[in-house]
Amino acid sequence: MRRPHPARPANRRKRRARRAHLRAATRGRAPARGERRGGAHGHGRRARHLGQTPHALRILHLSDLHLHEGDDPEVLLQPLLTDLRDRVEGLALEKLDFVVVSGDLSNRASPGELAAARHFLSRLAEATGLTAERCIVVPGNHDLDWDTEVYDFKKRRAVDPKRLAPGSFVEQENGYLVRDDARYPDRFRHFSRHLYHPLCLREYPMSPEEQGLALLFPAERLQFLALNSAFEIDEYHRDRSAIHPGALSRALAEAERQVEEARKRGDLDPNASVLRLAVFHHPVTGNEKMADDAFLERLRRADVRAVLHGHVHEDRADLVGYLHPTRKLHVVGAGSFGAPADHRPASVPRLYNLITIPRDLGRMRVDTRSLRKDEGIWEPWSTWPGEKPGERRAHYEVRWG
Ligand SMILES: [Fe+2]
Repeated sequence: MRRPHPARPANRRKRRARRAHLRAATRGRAPARGERRGGAHGHGRRARHLGQTPHALRILHLSDLHLHEGDDPEVLLQPLLTDLRDRVEGLALEKLDFVVVSGDLSNRASPGELAAARHFLSRLAEATGLTAERCIVVPGNHDLDWDTEVYDFKKRRAVDPKRLAPGSFVEQENGYLVRDDARYPDRFRHFSRHLYHPLCLREYPMSPEEQGLALLFPAERLQFLALNSAFEIDEYHRDRSAIHPGALSRALAEAERQVEEARKRGDLDPNASVLRLAVFHHPVTGNEKMADDAFLERLRRADVRAVLHGHVHEDRADLVGYLHPTRKLHVVGAGSFGAPADHRPASVPRLYNLITIPRDLGRMRVDTRSLRKDEGIWEPWSTWPGEKPGERRAHYEVRWG
């Protein structure tokens, strides 16, 4: 019987280093000092080449799905997953941390449309291993139910418009449509019942002052503020986008409370910073922006670093507070993931964004993808200026001030 040859110390060191690297590559993190780089099919090197540094957080930002009843979720899902995972022409994504959907999942908030959106997002979460709490969803103007009657007709002699709150009534030929404040929030009941509740495992709050949610993820040091910019929109006020001041105040207070509690529990280091991102449907810059944008200053002062929105069906990137040395607010518009060509600006295809944030939380990279033909493939959308004159890239990167 042959005795095993005693391993020499140098060989043991090499084997240890190789095992350490393989563990690191499997977890998607950079090899620590002393661990070898490369190997394992070059995943680490390739990920760094694509700007997806190992260990980075990845947020899939979809908006304006505009699903119809009976839409097959697999037809939407399969090309998206292929694009996210494809190592040759796609984003070479190994792990997704969050999906953000910034509104207009449906067209008229019918139960069937919202069920189609729910099926798609459930399948997306299942395929990417995301839990319900990591799906950040807010409603858009198409996600409120227009068939829920929330106005009462009253004859002209029965109404003194001076006694009614501005914006709470609509003048008609023979009288007024007067808003029933008790029924008004019911416009979002379908959204809650047929999409939000079964998907996110909790009811969407009906009262507008509660429609600002803070969601803290201590392990990632990331916090989302999910706000409803469509809370005041209805059949007669289709462009009345805004953020409810009570909802914003509650969300900011809750965000602070969550951070304090996490520090007390030891889930967050006492001095650890938290990156805050706000999500709502309507834009805050350019055409169709919210008329009252004063709330942006409150977000900026609360150290929100980026807002993710949709609605305009086109890519958008802007900066609020650009003169401030540290508290700048980056505005990221995702375009439309599902709107048909006649509902998009000329020459703008269907779009989505993948946001990559390194674990030091110091910067953000946005990759924009496009679908030029409905039955085609997702590809880079080279719309962002590069470093050279005339250069166009399919991604941009910003550093927080
Ligand atoms: Fe919209």
